Amino acid sequence: MHFFNYKGNKLYAEGVPIERIVKKVGTPCYVYSKKTLVRHYHAFDDAFRDVPHLICYSVKANSNIAVLKTFIKQGSGVDIVSGGELFRALKAGVNPKKVVYSGVGKREDEIEYALKTGVLMFNVESPEELRAINNIAKRLKKKAGFAIRVNPDVEPKTHPYISTGLKKNKFGIETNQAIREYIYAKNNLKNLVPIGVDCHIGSQITQLTPFVNAIKKTSDIIENLRNEGIDIKYLDMGGGLGITYDKEAPPHPGKYGKAVIDETKKLGITLIFEPGRVMAGNAGILVTRVLYTKKGTQKNFIIVDAAMNDLARPSLYGSYHAIKPVKKSNSKKEITVDVVGPICESGDFFAKDRELPVFKSGDLMAIMSAGAYGFSMSSNYNSRPRAAEVMVDGNKFFIIRERESYKDLIKGESF
Ligand code: LLP
Repeated sequence: MHFFNYKGNKLYAEGVPIERIVKKVGTPCYVYSKKTLVRHYHAFDDAFRDVPHLICYSVKANSNIAVLKTFIKQGSGVDIVSGGELFRALKAGVNPKKVVYSGVGKREDEIEYALKTGVLMFNVESPEELRAINNIAKRLKKKAGFAIRVNPDVEPKTHPYISTGLKKNKFGIETNQAIREYIYAKNNLKNLVPIGVDCHIGSQITQLTPFVNAIKKTSDIIENLRNEGIDIKYLDMGGGLGITYDKEAPPHPGKYGKAVIDETKKLGITLIFEPGRVMAGNAGILVTRVLYTKKGTQKNFIIVDAAMNDLARPSLYGSYHAIKPVKKSNSKKEITVDVVGPICESGDFFAKDRELPVFKSGDLMAIMSAGAYGFSMSSNYNSRPRAAEVMVDGNKFFIIRERESYKDLIKGESF
């Protein structure tokens, strides 16, 4: 559920017409709805109101500091995967005790930064990383809380690039080895404190079964560890809950919550979640202007001023994003088109063979569900300045990131 709706024939974000935003900031631009972000946070949080839990919004989905601050103000913590994300989250005012640090390749300086900040826990993905964190903590005379990210080998039924909990994936440690590592750490790595078990099986998951299967495996591990005298306080379930881009029907967070609570209540544990997409995905759109239309010999093309550098998902995963006119015309006529950007690659598209209303040069187009993994995955490819980002709050809007300038493009370069 989001707050991008038509009033008459004009698309609005909450109480603001998109056309008004474009007049001020130009195109392409990302527009986020604060009310939608807040609503999504509470839909998730409410699902777990009866059990101890902590939501750690996954910064990678949308890392703008205004977006982070919106969640943090609701009580959210964060899931980070780099020193850069930690820096952003601290700027946005996160409580360090609500930070979990994930990722397969944490550098020494990043581990040091997180230890000095006093994050809640490191989600550790390899035996070597476990030892590295212990050594750095020892040097700094600190204790590091940790969870091992277990690889439960469950099929998440999603795009292969965003499946992470299968044996063939680079993520996590296999369950039996994970138990051995906890015992080794207890006996030998004195600057580590085992506090959690972690798993994240993938993203854009639209069924409950993969989550339930992962919980069954992690619950077994927790019970095993408790029998070994290792007291586990947190079960971190990662993120992964999917959203509707097209016709997908993912479970509502309330249903997901019920399934998770049913499976975990016997453990008497604090649950941690790292949702990203379900918080931000449908809370943002990418607005672009039609430059040209062209009738090829085989296809019709709409060439817009946004490109794969602004929103990489269609070219990277073949992802579907709904496309809507910012101003609806009275004509019901539709044509089959490819919507493409100006970049010099055939992979630079937003839609292929899509039935759309007729767009003409100068029209504005909204690419929907672009709030997660949109701007955060954007680049300067083809030396294109990155888009502006705008947050709408009721009848007001705020530029939360200026459009990049040509000068920004060469920042730090020299000859
Ligand atoms: N926790 C960890 C350890 C993760 O790796 C991820 C996402 C999340 C949480 C958040 O997952 P979510 O709730 O958003 O599904 N670029 C891709 C998605 C990559 C997801 C990477 N990890 C896309 O555009 O679909």
